[in-house]
Amino acid sequence: MKPVRKAVFPVAGLGTRFLPATKAIPKEMLTVVDRPLIQYAVDEAREAGIEQMIFVTGRGKGALEDHFDIAYELEAVMKGRGKSLDPLEITRFPPGAIQSVRQQEPLGLGHAVWCARDLVGDEPFAVLLPDDLMVGSPGCLAQMVQAYEKVGGNVVCVQEVPRERTASYGIITPGARDGRLTEVRGLVEKPKPEEAPSTLSVVGRYILQPEIMSLLDRHEKGAGGEIQLTDSMAALIGTQPFHGVAFDGERHDCGDKTGFVVANIALALRRDDVAPAVRAFIAGL
Ligand code: G1P
Repeated sequence: MKPVRKAVFPVAGLGTRFLPATKAIPKEMLTVVDRPLIQYAVDEAREAGIEQMIFVTGRGKGALEDHFDIAYELEAVMKGRGKSLDPLEITRFPPGAIQSVRQQEPLGLGHAVWCARDLVGDEPFAVLLPDDLMVGSPGCLAQMVQAYEKVGGNVVCVQEVPRERTASYGIITPGARDGRLTEVRGLVEKPKPEEAPSTLSVVGRYILQPEIMSLLDRHEKGAGGEIQLTDSMAALIGTQPFHGVAFDGERHDCGDKTGFVVANIALALRRDDVAPAVRAFIAGL
């Protein structure tokens, strides 16, 4: 079984749900406590053993690349003032470890992943959607890699959702269960509650086999007129092992304003430097 060394981060989205905040900055640069969303996803990937980060970007997304570059002026000024460069440590990567490719048009998540096909090549890869902020130890992708090492094939992260929410997610048809692992027998993108095969939704974390790229090559449109990753994953079922892993941790949907505010509170409460004051403020409410 080939190890998962590469991760694709689809980050070309316009972030219209966060306007005007995202007019001039990428939504992935929105900050939870003191880190942009992209940093949480990249940290999670690094912890899971990923060596190569692939950003699928678009126009106006340069801040994402700058974030992981060396900021010479900033560092020179900080050094001159005797300030520690430690907070920048997590933004440092070896040369070449962060690559990017552009998705010129917003044609869907499946299309975004397909744009990375040459950088991914012929090996399994992870996909992380930075909107889904996953908090746990070990991290979500690390838990999935552990499962992948047992079952191989394709692995997605799954989570129960209320039936009235199925139209916001990819939903699986579950097969046999073994602890946190569920066999995936079918997948459908954003079904209406009355048509959903279950209430087990796909969260934005995937480990996929490279064969998905030749299915994405077909550019078939699905739900919402977009090229959906879900449809090509569904086509792999039966040809390769396919499992869902229930994450042992918390998911915050930062693609949504409420989820984003809650994520800030939840993560602030886990941070020794800010938790006491934030907790006191909340208690005062
Ligand atoms: C995407 C996927 C969907 C998945 C969701 C998880 O949808 O298409 O299958 O359940 O991410 O966050 P989006 O949220 O981009 O509409």
